[in-house]
Amino acid sequence: MSSADKKYELPSNAIVLPPTAQLQALLTLIRDEKTQRYSDRIIRLLVEEGLNHLPVVPKTVRTPVGLDFDGVGFEGRICGVSIMRAGEAMEAGLRDCCRSVRIGKILIQRDEETCLPKLFYAKLPEDIAERFVLLLDPMLATGGSCIKAIEVLLSHGVKEEKILFLNLIASPLGTDAVCKRFPKLRMITAWVDEGLDSHSYIVPGLGDFGDRYFL
Ligand code: URA
Repeated sequence: MSSADKKYELPSNAIVLPPTAQLQALLTLIRDEKTQRYSDRIIRLLVEEGLNHLPVVPKTVRTPVGLDFDGVGFEGRICGVSIMRAGEAMEAGLRDCCRSVRIGKILIQRDEETCLPKLFYAKLPEDIAERFVLLLDPMLATGGSCIKAIEVLLSHGVKEEKILFLNLIASPLGTDAVCKRFPKLRMITAWVDEGLDSHSYIVPGLGDFGDRYFL
């Protein structure tokens, strides 16, 4: 099963990129065990789609030929927050689209005693509560780290409806866990895979994203 088969019913706040031939070719490339580090173009597509969901207000500019153009400009400011370390691979794609964007970081790891996701580190823009937040994490498996990261954002005053979660490959379980728990956020993913294996890797997936991207 894949997102193309439509057997899995997506929550209404989850958006999957149109499965164009180009996207499928790019996904095939990054899944191939013989490749490394080809995700940047898909990440760029995710960022562009994310930006499509930001509100705009009317804005008029004067063009070089001396006429006004009644267009729009983004309303409000944005920032990125990457879930370390895999999410850091998505920062460059965001910077390519939004040159001087502020980017925060959150590190979540499994607590050895409780086995639950635990916050180890967070560095966020001080005015994050006033911003739209593009939360970056390429692989959504069980959803545990992502849910914890969203809770951290909410505890810093970010409004749920101002969170856009950008993700490369998701499992149905993780998608449901995140989108149903936070119905006002929007998740944008490139593909929803079949499920998880016994080690909570996404299948067919692409293995460990961080190992493949950063090595
Ligand atoms: N993180 C990864 O890098 N890969 C998976 O399949 C799941 C989580």
